[in-house]
Amino acid sequence: MSASGTFGHGLEMRHFVPPEKLGAWVSKTVTMRPRHGNPAPRIQETEAGFLNSIGLENRGVESYVSDTLPSLSGIASVIVTNIGGHTPESFAEIAAYLTGQEGIHAFEVNLSCPNVDQGRLPFSTDPPVAEAIMAGVREVTDKPIFAKLSPNVTRIGDMAVAVEAGGADGITAVNTLLGMGVDWRTGAPALATKMGGYSGVGMKPVALRCAYECVRAVKIPVIGCGGVRTAGDVLEFLAVGCRAVQVGTANFSDPGLMARLPEEIAGLLSDAGFESLEEVIGRVDRVPAHA
Ligand SMILES: Cc1cc2nc3c(=O)[nH]c(=O)nc-3n(C[C@H](O)[C@H](O)[C@H](O)COP(=O)(O)O)c2cc1C
Repeated sequence: MSASGTFGHGLEMRHFVPPEKLGAWVSKTVTMRPRHGNPAPRIQETEAGFLNSIGLENRGVESYVSDTLPSLSGIASVIVTNIGGHTPESFAEIAAYLTGQEGIHAFEVNLSCPNVDQGRLPFSTDPPVAEAIMAGVREVTDKPIFAKLSPNVTRIGDMAVAVEAGGADGITAVNTLLGMGVDWRTGAPALATKMGGYSGVGMKPVALRCAYECVRAVKIPVIGCGGVRTAGDVLEFLAVGCRAVQVGTANFSDPGLMARLPEEIAGLLSDAGFESLEEVIGRVDRVPAHA
């Protein structure tokens, strides 16, 4: 799967990756009203990965329905619309607005949005609030709903349990790590917002640990995300028990990557003597720690 915000809204990237090559296309976060996002600079490359503070720039749900969704109709892939909001109620509002739309197969709920009612703390840090948001979305749609969690918490397993209790059908683990960059000569921060999201190869061990903690905490499937750029990375997320994997930052330097991954994964599996992907899933718990 593509990771939200890194591969267009709709199928802008279809010239790099044919739609049927992906398990699912995930949109950038869509909000009820259009958002300009944060001031520039809002993206910077680091030694290993990105810092970004795009700030959920998008044209709003009406434009998503009139301009983006029609271009997705008849596509031989699964469309996941990532939704966001700034109050708990606004998540249910946008899910209700979109649920009747053809062409959307599932929702991914971006819980990393700041809660404007409560000191702009992200919803993803508060288990009861996250549970209530998922329950609100669950009430208005029969489509599968995935909760996208943040790694910026002490116990992500508690968040996973909360969103499962709220009715999530799956969990995406994880969004970006909080990060920062600065030019020590000028004092200029890398991002106009000073702090932002860190993503890419450097966060893979953290993302893998978060995904594993979620797998252990809940029964619903977990989608791994964070730092994936090779077929081996995908297999690592499956080995900790994920059922699907998303690719984000790596698309910026290698937009054709995801089209090659299925064959590369098959090649790695057969070289290592595996007969199916199922043999890899959750493997970390089937071998002694010293093996
Ligand atoms: C430029 C950029 C924009 C992003 N926009 C969103 C977004 O709109 N909604 C969301 O849920 N995640 C967003 N993300 C987070 C990614 O979907 C992903 O969770 C994170 O980058 C970790 O995966 P990666 O290391 O493969 O990039 C964004 C990431 C980047 C780098």
